[in-house]
Amino acid sequence: MAKAVVQLESQDRIEVLANQRLSVNGCHELRELILVFKSSHGDDWKAWPFPQGQSHSEILLRQFLLEQRGEWNPPYTHEEICHCRAVPTREVEKAIIMGAHTPQKVSRWTSASTACGTCRPDVEKMISYFLSSGTLSGKEPVSK
Ligand code: FES
Repeated sequence: MAKAVVQLESQDRIEVLANQRLSVNGCHELRELILVFKSSHGDDWKAWPFPQGQSHSEILLRQFLLEQRGEWNPPYTHEEICHCRAVPTREVEKAIIMGAHTPQKVSRWTSASTACGTCRPDVEKMISYFLSSGTLSGKEPVSK
């Protein structure tokens, strides 16, 4: 099984406990989302559908469910995504989760793609992947 934790900074955290129940810590929005899914889809989180929205909580829960199913396959996995500005891929991922849903916003928040621009297509693919509903393969071309 994939790793049992998705975590944003040290705040929002979804974890599978030894008894296979979920432990959720973090903001009110994330805890509310988990409660809504429990009441709508039951306690068996493994059978939950993917959240369809683009809030940070929905993106995190979608990532968690995909990881647990072994289906989390982002299109860019190297440690550093922007070599001109030395921006780690994780920084771009966090920016996307927190609301940088356009390449321009990712550039403003992280400085990625603000020099030669070579990394911009990878940033665009990451945005599309994180905002997709769990059906977009990391290997598929991303239309604009
Ligand atoms: S590699 Fe990102 S701007 Fe050059």
